[in-house]
Amino acid sequence: MRELSLREWEDAWAVPGVVGEAAEEAGLGRLEAMSLATAAVELANNVLVHAGSGFLRVRVVRNESGTGVEVTVTDSGPGIADQDAALSEGASTAGGLGVGLPGVRRLVDEFYLFSEKGVGTTVVVRKYVR
Ligand SMILES: Nc1ncnc2c1ncn2[C@@H]1O[C@H](COP(=O)(O)OP(=O)(O)OP(=O)(O)O)[C@@H](O)[C@H]1O
Ligand SMILES: [Mg+2]
Repeated sequence: MRELSLREWEDAWAVPGVVGEAAEEAGLGRLEAMSLATAAVELANNVLVHAGSGFLRVRVVRNESGTGVEVTVTDSGPGIADQDAALSEGASTAGGLGVGLPGVRRLVDEFYLFSEKGVGTTVVVRKYVR
């Protein structure tokens, strides 16, 4: 398991590196690895922009869907009040394009969003070896 603490925006530069290491270990193809790294950078960016700080954890998983890489991004920020809106294209509470979360969802095989207003947000994504 690899863990990064996200406090300032420069911390996001380390994200593709830790995802890439796990992707190599799992045997993920280059396109899958790049897609997952891109998704992870956006999730880390969301933590920094919308929550201020948080953590990113990466691990290799083996389950009924096969071998893959799981990225978990978690924070104790404001949480997402309207999850349906946050997942639809063009919805941003921070003047962004609002394409981040819907894009992340398309880039990965599994996407789970857990968020409670005033408590925080956790997003878990997985990409599997084809
Ligand atoms: N970690 C988070 N904590 C709190 N709110 C979040 C978090 N991540 C996303 N959100 C909420 O979900 C909305 C949609 O996120 P999304 O990444 O799609 O758009 P954005 O970050 O505002 O803009 P973009 O990613 O296009 O620059 C955000 O505007 C914000 O309100
Ligand atoms: Mg975003």
